[in-house]
Amino acid sequence: MDYFDTIILGAGAAGLFCAGSIIENNSTHADHKVLVIDHARAAGEKIRISGGGRCNFTNLATSHDRFLSQNPRFCASALAGFSARGFVDMVDRAGIAWHEKTLGQLFCDESARQIIDMLLHRMRGAQLWLETAINAVTHDGKCFLVTTSKGVLRAARVVVATGGKSIPKMGATGFGYELARQFGLRVIEPRAGLVPLTFAEQDLDKCRPLAGVAVQAVVSHGHGRSATRFRDGLLFTHRGVSGPAILQISSFWQPGEEITVDLAPDHDLKTLLREQRGQGGRIAVSTALGRHLPSRLAEAIADEMGLKEKRLADQTNSRLDQLAERVNAWRLRPVGSEGWRTAEVTLGGVDCRDLNARDMQARQQPGLYFIGEVVDVTGWLGGYNFQWAWASAHAAAKSI
Ligand code: FDA
Repeated sequence: MDYFDTIILGAGAAGLFCAGSIIENNSTHADHKVLVIDHARAAGEKIRISGGGRCNFTNLATSHDRFLSQNPRFCASALAGFSARGFVDMVDRAGIAWHEKTLGQLFCDESARQIIDMLLHRMRGAQLWLETAINAVTHDGKCFLVTTSKGVLRAARVVVATGGKSIPKMGATGFGYELARQFGLRVIEPRAGLVPLTFAEQDLDKCRPLAGVAVQAVVSHGHGRSATRFRDGLLFTHRGVSGPAILQISSFWQPGEEITVDLAPDHDLKTLLREQRGQGGRIAVSTALGRHLPSRLAEAIADEMGLKEKRLADQTNSRLDQLAERVNAWRLRPVGSEGWRTAEVTLGGVDCRDLNARDMQARQQPGLYFIGEVVDVTGWLGGYNFQWAWASAHAAAKSI
């Protein structure tokens, strides 16, 4: 039976980075045998498609408050141990050109493929078995037994880096959660995050004609000082709403809840519509709205408010205020999300209370580690999720 010092399950961002870090840390002990196993045909598939093919590989504003978790401070130690700058240094050493798009989000100038190549190069010295099914993992009291489609392997340590459930057609499974439960760890129920939100069937007729319309918006969830707000793009789709602002808020939203959308955050419509009315107001309501919104959206809102072809001059103050509220504080109750098929991440996962924050090791099962998205740590949109993959992998590798 083959023996490995460390077997890593999953050749995604966290698994590949962890293998490279173990190899680097043990460079003086070349006999440390590391194996990475994945059932997919290629390593790092989600890296390849990330950031529109350019991989938003980190965010310079990374800090623990950019992550959702039942234990919000859990991720702080790993993030402090390996910073965004640490990854940027690595990217620089590999000669990969990058740029900051916005809000600290760093992307490759050329291709996400460069990040995968860098990670594969860094883990030379480890073995990588692709197209290999993992059937079972047990512990016989001395070491782990990993049953795969290529035979049963023994290992001193197992690192679970099998990711979350989003995008099953790319190889995502709930395997990591099953394994956690099998070894007695608790799992916070996984749900789709960073995902487009959908409207009720009866509202779809209204939203379909808007499909493709994009605006800058402020989307909020909750009320008052505890509200969460994101200002970014919003896109109408055939099924509801998407775009970065909606993906961000989707991670905070729960079914049955309302979100509020300001469709023209730089314009106070309450004041502006009255001013426009005062300047003559012979124009149609939709034309007046069209000065602040894309014309298709302006027409749809005027229509929905029963003001199609109505003149601005004929509207009372209270009618204008209702119109302004529909634009600046549109209250929206999505019925659901597009789910695992398109979600960028999984919220929930292996309960942080059962892991050691310093090295990601299971408290009750020495030698068993969980890293990356399988853990109940989920970043905002913008490179945070990869930074968590790198940082949690680094934390585990340091103690291996
Ligand atoms: P990851 O999912 O990368 O890897 C898990 C691996 O385990 C996969 O290779 C899978 O095949 C394997 N596996 C699963 N079950 C298995 C089983 N039973 N047997 C064998 N192997 C198994 N983040 C970010 O920071 N910036 C970005 O630009 C983007 N963009 C983006 C776009 C899209 C479309 C998606 C879907 C996601 C993103 N993300 C992102 C999120 C990011 O991709 C994600 O958080 C990381 O890939 C998580 O890394 P992990 O290694 O934990 O899981």
